[in-house]
Amino acid sequence: MEKLTGLKKIKTAVFISGTGSNLNNIIKFSKTKKSPISINLIFSNTSKAKGLRYAEEFKIKKKIFNFENVNIAEKKILTLLEKQKIKFICLAGFMKILSKKFIKKFDGIIINIHPSLLPKYKGLNTHNRAIKNKDKFSGCTVHYVTEKLDSGIVILQKKIKIAAKDNSVSLAKKVLKLEHKLYPAAIKKIFT
Ligand code: GRF
Repeated sequence: MEKLTGLKKIKTAVFISGTGSNLNNIIKFSKTKKSPISINLIFSNTSKAKGLRYAEEFKIKKKIFNFENVNIAEKKILTLLEKQKIKFICLAGFMKILSKKFIKKFDGIIINIHPSLLPKYKGLNTHNRAIKNKDKFSGCTVHYVTEKLDSGIVILQKKIKIAAKDNSVSLAKKVLKLEHKLYPAAIKKIFT
C-alpha cells in the first residue's frame, strides 16, 4: 500500500453507473487538505449516468465503456489507468461486476461502498430486505473489493436506527447521507 509522501496525493479513479452523489462527495473531499487522494479519472459503464456531470463540473477526465464485453472494456480501462498513473480505485454505485483478473491486479487498492451492514444483505435491494425483515438497524460499509461480491475486508461501517415509519425510499435517503460521511473517513483511514 502506497503511503502518503509530502503533499503528493494518490491518483484515484472512481467508477460509477448512476447518480454519482458519492462521486460528488469524494471529489469535494479530495480537494481538501486532509485528503490523501486526488480524483483524476471517472469511469462509467453508461453514458446515462447522471454522475458524469461531475466530470464536467470539476474538469476531471471521464470515460464511458460499454461492458457488454467485459474483457475488452477492462483492457481499455487498464491501459488508461496505467497511462494516468492511477494507484487507487473507488467504486461508487458501479453496477457491473469486474473480472477476477482485474480485481487481482488491484488487490488491496480497490474499494467499494455498500448500503448495508455487511455481511448482511450483499447484492441488490438492501433497503427493501432490511425493511421486510423488520431490522432495527441499517447502515453502510466501505470494504476492499475481492473476487467474491461484497465480501472483502471491512474498512469502516456506520449504522443508523430504522424508524417504524421508514420505507425503503426514506431508509435509502438516510443511508446515503451516512455514506457521504463514511466514504471519506474510510479513505483517510486507509492512508493514514
Ligand atoms: C449508493 O447507495 C451505494 O452504496 C450503492 O449505490 C448507491 C450509489 O449512489 N453501491 P450514488 O450514485 O453515489 O448517488
